[in-house]
Amino acid sequence: MSTPTSPAIAILGTGSNAPARVLTNDELSRQVDTSDEWIFTRTGIRERRIAGPDESVAALAAAAGRFALADAGLEPGQIDLLIVATCTPDLPMPSTACLVQTELGLRERAACVDLNAACTGFVYALDHAWALLASGRYRHALVIGAEKNSTLIDWADRGTCVLFGDGAGAVVLGPARPGTTSGILDAQLGAIPGTAELLLVPGGGSSPLAPESRRHIAMKGKEVFKFAVRGMEEVTRDLLARNGLSGADLSLVVPHQANLRIIHALAQYLELPYERIFVNVDRYGNTSAASIPLALDEARRAGRLKTGDLMLLVAFGAGLTYGGALVRW
Ligand code: UT7
Repeated sequence: MSTPTSPAIAILGTGSNAPARVLTNDELSRQVDTSDEWIFTRTGIRERRIAGPDESVAALAAAAGRFALADAGLEPGQIDLLIVATCTPDLPMPSTACLVQTELGLRERAACVDLNAACTGFVYALDHAWALLASGRYRHALVIGAEKNSTLIDWADRGTCVLFGDGAGAVVLGPARPGTTSGILDAQLGAIPGTAELLLVPGGGSSPLAPESRRHIAMKGKEVFKFAVRGMEEVTRDLLARNGLSGADLSLVVPHQANLRIIHALAQYLELPYERIFVNVDRYGNTSAASIPLALDEARRAGRLKTGDLMLLVAFGAGLTYGGALVRW
């Protein structure tokens, strides 16, 4: 179990932002050999958001961050750690976080860094930020997940182009408000050795073997599906067991939004009614690192969280990576 912290580190505010442009299954089925019926039955997705060429990841991230700061009632100058989880940074360098820092007007003595754990990125970033805040060396962190997945899609590949979308979500972390039991309770991260080739972008990095033409998501969907279910179940089981909890103690689960069938498998494993699982994959598709904070913000705004509720955030992604966090709201 991770080190308990004093005072507890809690989520003080949430925010999200998605591009206005909606791409429906029907539109996609005019471009590739697919159908709304196939996509919805196999994935639960109806539509996704697509950023325009002028909408940068930094801009999506900054807008989500601005909402989260306002929600937390904090000024940009009070943030001393910014982590942007993304696998679609605007540039190889500098980090997207440095671009967001300028856009939001964060102070110079704020640590700014990107983190890439693909779709598990937000849970990784949350755990890292929690540890740094718990060290006492930082007081308030802004943790953002933001992606422009549409730039990594082969729009002729029906096996992947129907799955992904763009967006951003953010949380502000800081000392729990006095008199509350709120706080991050525990987190667990992992990565499965030898699974990199199941989900990757084989080009676009510094590898000489990777021509620009291969800068697209390539995926062995069925295998990723199996590892996703296994990874999320195992990390959930470990987190619950070592905290003396069971699935019944969870008021809300906010899982990575990749495929409704994967989410249903997790709900079945936890023996939880679907009402306790938050789902918005139908409207956004898979937004990678943005998926959980975007869903968390929507869940909150929909009144799905009450003070004192126990929540599980759980994700899997390329790597293959997985991770979970238990949070008392
Ligand atoms: O954050 C991590 C991101 N990745 C994931 O979450 C991926 C996890 N995997 C999945 O979600 C599923 O494996 C998919 C949704 C990608 C695919 O669903 P599936 O039930 O595993 O289908 P399949 O790949 O076995 O394909 C079944 C059939 C194939 O045709 P044949 O060989 O049976 O004739 C495919 O060619 O469906 C075909 N197919 C499609 N048909 C219409 C594949 N994509 C499409 C499509 N529209 N978009």
